[in-house]
This record gives sequence, structure tokens and C-alpha cells, in this order.
Amino acid sequence: MRNARLAPVLLSLLVLSPALPAAAQRNHLARTPPMGWNSWNHFAHRVNDRVIREAADAMVASGMRAAGYQYVNIDDTWEGQRDAQGNIQPNAKFPDMKALADYVHSKGLKLGIYSSPGPRTCAGFAGSYQHEQQDANTYAQWGIDYLKYDWCSASRVYRPDQMQEVYRKMALALLATHRPIVYSLCQYGWQKVWTWGASVGGNLWRTTGDINDTWRRMSQIGFNQSDLAPYAGPGHWNDPDMLEVGNGGMTDTEYRTHFSLWAILAAPLIAGNDLAHMTPATLAILTNRDVIAVDQDPLGKQGTRLSQDGTSEVWGKPLKGGAWAVGLFNRGEQPASITVRWPQLQLAGARHVRDLWAHKNLGRVRDQFTATVAPHGVVMIRVSR
Ligand code: GLA
Repeated sequence: MRNARLAPVLLSLLVLSPALPAAAQRNHLARTPPMGWNSWNHFAHRVNDRVIREAADAMVASGMRAAGYQYVNIDDTWEGQRDAQGNIQPNAKFPDMKALADYVHSKGLKLGIYSSPGPRTCAGFAGSYQHEQQDANTYAQWGIDYLKYDWCSASRVYRPDQMQEVYRKMALALLATHRPIVYSLCQYGWQKVWTWGASVGGNLWRTTGDINDTWRRMSQIGFNQSDLAPYAGPGHWNDPDMLEVGNGGMTDTEYRTHFSLWAILAAPLIAGNDLAHMTPATLAILTNRDVIAVDQDPLGKQGTRLSQDGTSEVWGKPLKGGAWAVGLFNRGEQPASITVRWPQLQLAGARHVRDLWAHKNLGRVRDQFTATVAPHGVVMIRVSR
């Protein structure tokens, strides 16, 4: 039979494909971009056991869990000394990591942690250098579900051309634990990580240096991601860094732009604010289900810039079944009239349009859609097939 002869050929093609690791070396996680929270952007060094429990509590009480958020991630500064056997221990801020994981799991959530392939993390705490499998085993014993692995001091012990093998080493160590652990690469987009991040077992990889809570930095990062779209897909995502929504350095209009842009980019939605103390406006942004559905669309296509006219930009993301999400972005300082034309979406005629921030169906709209967009603002719509 023809198919029977082809099967081994196809199989070997799959296994040898340079873009993705063999099935046995994949964790099959993150079929849509991971959603959760991370301590760094707001708490930095001030993270501790109580902060993590409060974040988990707030994620449930606020309705964020119901909206799809799942991971509660401890970033840098949790690490203590290694014991006599070399096992990593948390420092005094985290008295019992296993108990903390149990608590987070009891809330129906998952717990993430942070390390570096180097001897030291970026904040100078113990990294996983020469303890990779041992640390992976420890994380699995604690009940960890997500690892952010941050290059930091690894440049002191590895050559640049060893980076891929270094990241693969931890991917294999995590797989060997048999616990499903999402693997987040953090090396600031060096060496075009998007071209190899999936092949070394990454579920996501940072594409840039650190974000901060300013319009300037957020927009500089977000609006520069269009070319990376081909590298994202189910199981492996570009990560333009964690959200700053609600941290106070931008207006709510700018945070809506930030959140909309990340959704169109199919970016991980990792909140970075103080969940226990957020304004109703912040919560409304983070739990906008219409926008979250764009990010989490099962087709898993990252959106791109479709057109640009000065500081006005039209971005589009194809959705499953042929619909599109469109962001009309105004990066300028004056209100702007911005238009998306259906042929830009390979569509024609009258299409149903929904406004994803007004949460309103606008009925059937012919040929094109125009909106007046506030300075630094966005109008985001869904256009039916
Ligand atoms: C690097 C990462 C940040 C954060 C800090 C922690 O800067 O890019 O996201 O994890 O380290 O030290």
C-alpha cells in the first residue's frame, strides 16, 4: 500500500524536522499562550510566601482564574543555599515550597518558579549550573508546573555557541521528571531565539530585553514584534515579556493598548501587577474575555502589522474559522481616524463586526471599518468571515 510505504518517510521527516524536537522530547504543553501572573514586575525582591498566596487568592476572588489565568509564578530572589547533597533550598522568605505548591494547587491554580543556567541568577542568587537535573527533580518534588530559565550569569561559564545545548539540557531534565512543566526561555531574544527556541524544547521565549511600566518601552517592544509571527504556534510562543497593566506608569487607555497588542501577538498573558490591590479598571482590562479569546484562539497564529500610516497602525490576527481580530492603534498624540479595509483581511462585502472593548456587536459592516482612536489608544474589533 502506498500510504504504508510513505509512513516511515513521513515519520522520519517529522523526527528530523529542525524546527521542532522529536515527539518524545516535547512536553505537549501550552497549546495556547500561557496565562498567569509573575511576581517580578511589581514585587521584584519583595516576593515571599505570603505574596504568592495572596496572588493566588486574588486570582480566584477577582475572577481572573475564571477568565483563564492559571499560573502563579515566583520570579527571582526565592533561592537559598544548597544543602550538603547539593539540593537547592528556598531562602527564609519561602519556609516550605511544597506546602506553598499544595496551597496554590488547592486553589485550582499552578505554581511557577525561576532559575538560571548560570551559577547565579540575574539578582545574584544561586543558579542551576551543574545542578540541572537535580534542580528539575526538586521542582517536580515540590509540585512546580512552570520554569522560567533566565540566562543571566551563564555568559561567565558558557560560550555563546553553547546556548542552545544549555537550554536543551534543562528541557530534557524537566522531561525526565515526568511532571508536566512549562518551559520558558529567557535570554532577551539573543541569537534569534525564535528560530531555535522550539527545537530545544521551549514553550515560550523572551524576544526582547526587559519591559518596564512606561508607554515608551511597552510600545517600543510591542510594535516591533510583527516579523516574528511565523515562529509562534501551539506549544511554542514568542514572549514580548510580562504585562505591566495596573502598575501605575501608564494610563488605562495605554494599558488597553498594551493588552490588546499582546493578545494580537498571541503573547503569553502573564500579569505583573498587585492582584490583591487593583482598580476596577485594571481588573476589567485583565479579564476582558473578548480580548482574551483573541489571544487564546486555538488556531494559534500570531498577528502582524497590516498597514501603517505615520503613527496609525492596523494590526490583524487570523482566528480559527476565518474570522479576524483587528487592532486600530494610534501611537500619536492626537485623535486619529483609522480604517481597516476588508481586502487586508482577504475578506469582502458585508461582515459582522464586534467591538471588543465596548463589548458590542456593531452589525454588518460593508467593505471597511473606520474608527476615531484616542491618542495612545486602540479600537479592537472582531470581523466575521
Ligand atoms: C531578568 C529578566 C527579568 C527578571 C529579572 C530577575 O532581568 O529578564 O524578567 O526575571 O531578571 O532578576
